[in-house]
Amino acid sequence: MLERLGFRRGRVVECIATTADAHGMPNAAPVGAYLLSPRTAVLKLHTRTRTFANLAETRRVVLNITSDPLLFLKTALLDAEAELDFSTTGSGMPYLKDALAYAELRLLDSRRYTLRDSLGESEAALLRLEAEEVEVLAPPQAFSRGACALVELAVELSRHRCSELESRLLRVARRCLSAAEVKEAERVLELCRSR
Ligand SMILES: Cc1cc2nc3c(=O)[nH]c(=O)nc-3n(C[C@H](O)[C@H](O)[C@H](O)COP(=O)(O)O)c2cc1C
Repeated sequence: MLERLGFRRGRVVECIATTADAHGMPNAAPVGAYLLSPRTAVLKLHTRTRTFANLAETRRVVLNITSDPLLFLKTALLDAEAELDFSTTGSGMPYLKDALAYAELRLLDSRRYTLRDSLGESEAALLRLEAEEVEVLAPPQAFSRGACALVELAVELSRHRCSELESRLLRVARRCLSAAEVKEAERVLELCRSR
C-alpha cells in the first residue's frame, strides 16, 4: 500500500505531515518516515513539535508526498499554515492540495525516549502508524538537485545549524531551480532570519 507512494524498506522518505488539533486547526511540518511493512510506518518526532502534540491528541496524521522544496522550507522554518491550501480527506483530516499523493495513517502505539545527537539531549517519541487510505492526486515530478539542496538546507536551519553548507546548498539551488523558486526561497530565508 505505502510502497505505491515510494516508501521502501530501509529508506527514510521525507514527507510533509499534516495534522489537526482538537479544534480542527491544521498544521504542516516536514517529517522523515520509515516503512515497517506494506501498511505500517514509523515516525520519530521531537515531543516539543506541534505535529507530535496533535498526533498524540487525535491519533491521526496525513503524510503528504511532494517534490516541491518550498513546501519543505516554509513548513520547517515558518508558521506557514496561512500560506498553504488545505483540503480534507474523507475522515476530515487536512492534506495539502498541492501534494502529489498522500497517505492517511492512524497511530498504533508510541514510545518516548531520550534522543542524543550532535545537538545534545532532547525528548523524542517513536510512533508506529497504520495506513488506512492512500490517494494519488497528480503525476510524478522529475528529480531535481536544486530541490534536494533546498530540502537539506531546511533540515540544517530547522536544527538551528547555520553551517558552512548553507552557501554551497544555495549555490546548487540557484543553478538548478527556476528564478521564481529561488526568489521565493530567498523570501522564506529572509523571513526566517528576521524572526
Ligand atoms: C526534511 C525534514 C525532515 C524532518 N524530519 C523530522 C522528523 O522526522 N522528526 C522531527 O521531530 N522533526 C523533523 N524535522 C524538523 C521539523 O519539521 C521542525 O522542527 C518543524 O518546525 C516542526 O513543526 P511543528 O512544531 O509545526 O510540528 C524535519 C525537517 C525537515 C526539513
